[in-house]
Amino acid sequence: MDFETTFDEAPWMAPGLAADARAALLDAALTEDERYSLLHSQWAIGFLPDAPLPDGAIPAAGYVPPIPRLGIPGLYETDASLGVTNPRNARPGDTATALPSGLALASTWDADLACEAGAMVGDEAAKKGFNVLLGGGMNLVRDPRCGRNFEYLGEDPLLAGTLSGAAIRGTQSQGIIATAKHFVLNDQETGRHVVNAVIDEAALRESDLLAFQIAIERGAPGAVMSAYNRINGHYACENDALLNGVLKGDWAYPGFVMADWGATTSVHAAANGLDQQSGEQLDFRVWFEEPLRESVAAGETLPARISDMSRRILRAMFAAGLFDRPLPKGEAIDYAAHGRIAYRAAAEGIVLLKNEGGILPLTGAAKRIAVIGGHADVGVLCGGGSSQVTTGKGHAAFIHAGGEGAMMAMASEAYHPSAPLAAIKRAAGGARVSFANGRYPSEAAMLAGNSDIAIVFANQWTTEGADVPDLTLPNGQDALIDAVAAANPNTIVVLQTGGPILMPWLGSVAAVLEAWYPGSQGGEAIADILFGAACPSGRLPVTFPQSAAQLPRPELPGLGKRWAAPFGPRIDLSRASGFDVPHPEGSDVGYRWFARMGHPPLFPFGYGLSYTAFSYDNLAVTGGNTLTITFDVTNTGPCEGIDTPQVYLSSRRGAPIRRLLGWSRLRLKPGERAAAKVIADPRLLADFDTTRRAWHVPEGRYEIALARSAEDFALHSGASITEKWIKP
Ligand code: BGC
Repeated sequence: MDFETTFDEAPWMAPGLAADARAALLDAALTEDERYSLLHSQWAIGFLPDAPLPDGAIPAAGYVPPIPRLGIPGLYETDASLGVTNPRNARPGDTATALPSGLALASTWDADLACEAGAMVGDEAAKKGFNVLLGGGMNLVRDPRCGRNFEYLGEDPLLAGTLSGAAIRGTQSQGIIATAKHFVLNDQETGRHVVNAVIDEAALRESDLLAFQIAIERGAPGAVMSAYNRINGHYACENDALLNGVLKGDWAYPGFVMADWGATTSVHAAANGLDQQSGEQLDFRVWFEEPLRESVAAGETLPARISDMSRRILRAMFAAGLFDRPLPKGEAIDYAAHGRIAYRAAAEGIVLLKNEGGILPLTGAAKRIAVIGGHADVGVLCGGGSSQVTTGKGHAAFIHAGGEGAMMAMASEAYHPSAPLAAIKRAAGGARVSFANGRYPSEAAMLAGNSDIAIVFANQWTTEGADVPDLTLPNGQDALIDAVAAANPNTIVVLQTGGPILMPWLGSVAAVLEAWYPGSQGGEAIADILFGAACPSGRLPVTFPQSAAQLPRPELPGLGKRWAAPFGPRIDLSRASGFDVPHPEGSDVGYRWFARMGHPPLFPFGYGLSYTAFSYDNLAVTGGNTLTITFDVTNTGPCEGIDTPQVYLSSRRGAPIRRLLGWSRLRLKPGERAAAKVIADPRLLADFDTTRRAWHVPEGRYEIALARSAEDFALHSGASITEKWIKP
């Protein structure tokens, strides 16, 4: 619509009207055909012969055509949380800023940075012509083997919900719709189209649902994407209890629910709460066209529900500003400024796991430095699947992953062009820096033996569509590290992994950095941490186990069997048999499970070392309606650094319990002292009561710990809380 249209013709454009009112007015003006056209999107990548690029689409994940008669813009949907993707180079040469992985961002525990990162991706998406970002991804990490953990924000509902909400808010500040996904319990990729996550309702409310609830409260995303899997017997995309009951009922969520691509399994999804079918060519049928019209004619789906669906979509479009701002065209993207955001997320998300004898930061004393393995000479690793971003002049290396199924056929182990080797050479001053590719441990050991310091890069590539079968480093890298460490005691391991791994060599190396997948500027960030230009401040957002035996599911359910392929062929999934994934941990995800079971982890949630040191004092707690915790933090070490003191609930009415209640994030100069305050969200003190459908905070004494990690409590205190019921 051009903007000269009068308000009489288009009353929904009158100034001052709220999104709800505008959506209702516009919805009433739709013809039935127009209305149905909003209810399904097309897959718009155009590389399948029977799913060509739709006319008018921008090649990307999804497209809903515009309705010019009413001035309704099309929906141009792109992935996602880590940057604007360009799958299979569908938009030739179009690259974007690549954030580090979600776990790296979560390791910063910095909601402001998450918001900036979300805004950065939103700005690039909008300037490339998109108005729907299919991020943020925020499933809780329940299994360290899940192939998509790298996209998400860790294992804790408060941390994941807070950061996701901030990222969503940032994205939507750019005038586009963001999408919280994947709702819900999409916690493994193995058999993801058929798997049935089995969990108690109260446990689900207190964990994954709470994470989404917090993200939605803070970010107000226009869309929520429902997941592939089943939950307690019902597919996520047609789960009445979760979509109508919890999301739209209890939480009064006003936006729309879009399906994941190829996840709409029947026409019943509409009545059960799904508002938009996605990537329709991937489904067994375009359910939200003819079949839905037939269902309405047969009286199975109410006509009012159809306009509720379109109204919700329009409402999200109005709320995000899609009608008020013409899509930007051809505006320059400030990649330099965006690179600085990616750099900060990488540098502040790197977690220093071990630093024996203070070997790091490296000083001028090392004259001969060996850099080994991990393709450190070309770039930094990024995760595979729909979130894989192409940055700079394109991938520096692209290694075909191989494997069965459409997803693995497309997958590749890609490297962003930010070579750690070059950055290390720049940072190392006059030192001699040599590289061995690490293919042969003997050759690497020879170089390490002739060097003062050996830095081994070890990579675990993970991808959407597949889980890792175990937590070892692939391709014999454990043996490589053993050989290098045997040749040189000053061995530093830099990990680029999708999530937790096992470290059988931990005792024989001097230092370990977890760099995750560090994004566009990852090489520079790694070098700056190694040489002390940046002080490490990352804190683990996931527990690293000592062995798979410590996990709630020592064996990954369904592993090694053939299940429906992650992308088509368009099978009738409603008839597909699947398998159950029990969730014995319930709401005790990650560190809470480890505490409950008394398992000592390899590295606990919340853990991370620094080049400086911090002390805590003046802890005080007040109770009443909730817990308010105040304390002071002092930098007692030699350099400026960021600390993330954490507050955990440690016992409730005399019973042990472990829950993160909050944290503070302080950047302090040496000797500097600052006051911090954490106010607990009362839902974190509560249990969910399924009979009364409400949160219950029982009266009594609550003990807390001010901590350096979920396993390292520095100071203790407590207070009494009055009984409380909180709406769901
Ligand atoms: C993924 C989603 C993604 C969609 C569109 C699916 O395979 O699960 O996260 O947004 O594809 O690319």
